[in-house]
Amino acid sequence: MTPSLQWNPALSALPVSGIRRMFNLAATMEEVIHLSIGQPDFPTPPHIVEAHVEALRQDKTHYTLDAGLPELLSVLAQIYGKLSGRKLVEENLLETTGAGEAIFLAVTSLAAPGREVIVIEPSFVLFQPLVGLAGGSVRRIVTTAEQGYQVDPQEVIDAMGPRTCAVILNSPGNPTGTVYPASTLEAICQAAAQRGITVISDEVYDRLVLDEMESSSVLNCDVDLDHLIVASSVSKTYSMPGMRVGWLISSRRNLQTLRRYHTYTTTVGNTPGQWASVAALQGDQSCVDRMVGEYRKRRDRIVELLEECRHLQGYRPQGAFYIMPSLPAGEDGSEFTLRMLREIRVCAIPGDTFGESCRNGLRLSYATSLERIEAAFERMIPWLEKQSF
Ligand SMILES: Cc1ncc(COP(=O)(O)O)c(C=O)c1O
Repeated sequence: MTPSLQWNPALSALPVSGIRRMFNLAATMEEVIHLSIGQPDFPTPPHIVEAHVEALRQDKTHYTLDAGLPELLSVLAQIYGKLSGRKLVEENLLETTGAGEAIFLAVTSLAAPGREVIVIEPSFVLFQPLVGLAGGSVRRIVTTAEQGYQVDPQEVIDAMGPRTCAVILNSPGNPTGTVYPASTLEAICQAAAQRGITVISDEVYDRLVLDEMESSSVLNCDVDLDHLIVASSVSKTYSMPGMRVGWLISSRRNLQTLRRYHTYTTTVGNTPGQWASVAALQGDQSCVDRMVGEYRKRRDRIVELLEECRHLQGYRPQGAFYIMPSLPAGEDGSEFTLRMLREIRVCAIPGDTFGESCRNGLRLSYATSLERIEAAFERMIPWLEKQSF
């Protein structure tokens, strides 16, 4: 037998995704209803598609500058400057290959052996493995469905120690849909800045806030940009995740380092995708309003349907397109979701995908039609009645 490759041992920090596991199994079955999808189910709005095609036709298929397409950086600086009341310029931005690369750059440029990163569970799948990949350790803060997965800012502040280099926030959050109030963000950002700790804020769902509430961006907090790194993208807002366009926002000083790092990862982003993103950000925003309206209807319905489900603890998420109900404490969500898929062909994502403390949870996505949501619960409600825990 030939010896296996001598992989970098740091790769062991990257687990097999629970999402892939469920998808692979579901692919072998018929009549599965997916409440597992992590991407918008709407077509990309036509004017964005047109701009993409037009960019291809005009031979805009070559490398951009390191930081990204100047037209995109400029429109982003204007939009975020207006939203946050900060004076932002192009040098405060770096275009990346989706928010995924933005998060990779932010986390792995700060985490290192001997350093700790505070992560709030349930946490988006990239955060903890990336800290591990960079040799850092994770300090977990646990939140629960009973609290609607809101975090107590004091708990985060108490966890900040001499080894803490960063706190990762994600509001609206995946997998919970939870939106933190401005007061939570302010308290965490202030305390982090005072201690020289960076707040990395993943804000990919910032436009998918379903209730009237204050902005959920850390850019609105009263701290210097040197202490903040914001990651976002066009993926979810405009239903164009395959175009792979995202960005980082921070101080000019921080971005000099991150830009250098970026040239060693993907060099530059996708050029036609960046032109499509300019069209998305500058064009008519009613497409976003329509999608948000649809998510709101689905959220309202799924919250009602969960109330009819025996054994599942629900709550009212205020953003994104996820909800993460929990089973009674100590129950195994992984075994439960597998059984639910096998017995009634409804596919959800097991909670342990999002952290050790989330074993009794399951993520349901409502990035699917109301009809499919109704059909899934028609199967789930009677099935759950028969379960005993
Ligand atoms: C919380 C969160 N951050 C980042 C991403 C990655 O976004 P992108 O597709 O722009 O790379 C996702 C995608 O599911 C997400 O849910």
